[in-house]
Amino acid sequence: MGVIRVRPRPERTGAAKMSRCQRHGVEREAPPAVYRFPPQAISVEFPQESVREETMPIEVLPVRPSFVARVIGADLTALSPAATAAIGTAIDTYSVLIVPDQHLDDDHLLTLGKTFGDVEPPRNHRVVQRLKHAELADISNLDANNRLRAADDHRRLDSLGNRLWHSDASFREVPGALSMLFAHVVPPAGGETEFADLRAAYDALDAPMQARIEGLAVEHSIFHSRGQLGHTDYTDAERAALPPVLHPLVRVHPVSKRKTLYMGSHASHIVGWPMPDGRLLLRDLMEHATQREFVYRHAWRVGDLVIWDNRCTMHRGRSYDDATHPRDLRRVTTKDLSMLQPA
Ligand code: OGA
Ligand code: MN
Repeated sequence: MGVIRVRPRPERTGAAKMSRCQRHGVEREAPPAVYRFPPQAISVEFPQESVREETMPIEVLPVRPSFVARVIGADLTALSPAATAAIGTAIDTYSVLIVPDQHLDDDHLLTLGKTFGDVEPPRNHRVVQRLKHAELADISNLDANNRLRAADDHRRLDSLGNRLWHSDASFREVPGALSMLFAHVVPPAGGETEFADLRAAYDALDAPMQARIEGLAVEHSIFHSRGQLGHTDYTDAERAALPPVLHPLVRVHPVSKRKTLYMGSHASHIVGWPMPDGRLLLRDLMEHATQREFVYRHAWRVGDLVIWDNRCTMHRGRSYDDATHPRDLRRVTTKDLSMLQPA
């Protein structure tokens, strides 16, 4: 429909806001006289949908040629089919999208998640629910009464695992596909989120290494990632509820068909290899993939919605003074059903 423009260089003007006003202008207009009778003619002939799309363009501004883009002019509470398709195409190309200036309550965030797939409910570990929906992950340092968590709060210690490079829910048989994280409150310093491009990291491996890792299976477990920080205080029932799972180390992205590494803090070892060999290989690959050239750091502003593709990226939160400042981010994640099929 010619409404999606990809521009090489950011150039923010009032264009997006203007379009929204124009859209409302269009909606308020009285139907043309010709539609007075019969009433059913209105829905047949008035080209309302195309007028609305024409006046609300979405712009996708790449931050790097194929990794991270900013999406300008989108209203995520009211996405048209064309805008939804444009965001879907952009995520398959850039893997991480920053959508600033959004106003999303818990209902909007859940609806947004459902627009892009089946929602994967979070672990919400030992949580007294603060958010409206159990399908949303509470990525905050707050308790159910919106008070800062104590330093020894079990939930806080568990969530510090998000500071390690990971792919959401890779410890599940059906892991996370797209995660959408929305910023309600951000601290004055720190608390950024970093993203690593595992497609580019795979491409940069030399051919012998690519051949060596082809076909390898990796065991993932949430208790492996938490144990790396020395947090092992989980009950037998909690452990039994989330047994280890196996995933391929090299995947083909189901849409872009690009090859990518798949790993992170939940990845424990290589199946069939001696434990130390497998762990050393994973460490080498993690070190390789998190070199600065593959990493983008996002400094949050209130109203930012960031979408990332867990199938071909890793991310980690950075530290901040969580004893003093609230940080209230909320996430919805879709299911990576492609894991159930061979690549
Ligand atoms: C997440 C996550 C990191 C952060 O929401 O999945 O890992 O910066 N967040 O809070
Ligand atoms: Mn995460």
